[in-house]
Amino acid sequence: MEELKKQAGIAAAQYVSDGMIIGLGTGSTARHFVDEVGRRVQEDGLQITGVTTSSQTTAQAESLGIPLQDINAVRAIDLTVDGADEVDPDFNGIKGGGGALLMEKIVATLTKRYIWVVDETKLVTKLGSFKLPIEVVQYGAECLFRHFQDQGYQPAFREYKGERFVTDMQNYIIDLDLKRIENPQALADSLDHTVGVVEHGLFNGMVDQVIVAGKDGIKHLNTPKK
Ligand code: A5P
Repeated sequence: MEELKKQAGIAAAQYVSDGMIIGLGTGSTARHFVDEVGRRVQEDGLQITGVTTSSQTTAQAESLGIPLQDINAVRAIDLTVDGADEVDPDFNGIKGGGGALLMEKIVATLTKRYIWVVDETKLVTKLGSFKLPIEVVQYGAECLFRHFQDQGYQPAFREYKGERFVTDMQNYIIDLDLKRIENPQALADSLDHTVGVVEHGLFNGMVDQVIVAGKDGIKHLNTPKK
């Protein structure tokens, strides 16, 4: 599995070239992409500027000597490569397994070409087996939790080392155990209008290309919007 993640991450690096501003994703697959970009910066003198999607990726990029820019200084990002937790046939996806969904979505919305790198186990016919992460402000989080319970969403506060997990943006994450999401767009619309929700892990129709590593090799799936 690790080898497939590595293959997908390295395959995405072929789209990186001099002068680009690159969004650097988060997670165990995207980190291989970041490693490869770092290698090319160091060994080939690749000239790019990175924008990161988490404190974890910032630390990795800094350790590799990748020049970084603050998101606020950037008008557009040429290419972002990130992982995903599930991808459906309509190129809707769930992200946020690593808790970085808010920064990831902000970076994605500024991005001209948005690529996901996944191994083939991430391709699903329906989203929802993976618990949907919802980033919520701390104030009133219990009220929101009860609201999700009332909706039958089977919520659980994410924990880390026995404590409630706090994101890079100082919010909590509530994971929803939905089993099967029949209409990702309707759910996203409803969550977008739920007060206290900062962001959710549904990334519907945002991605331009999905690079899938499987036992039979690498596939580049282009979404219809391109
Ligand atoms: C981080 O919050 C996530 O969105 C990751 O990109 C996603 O969970 C995929 O991670 P892996 O590549 O580690 O499965």
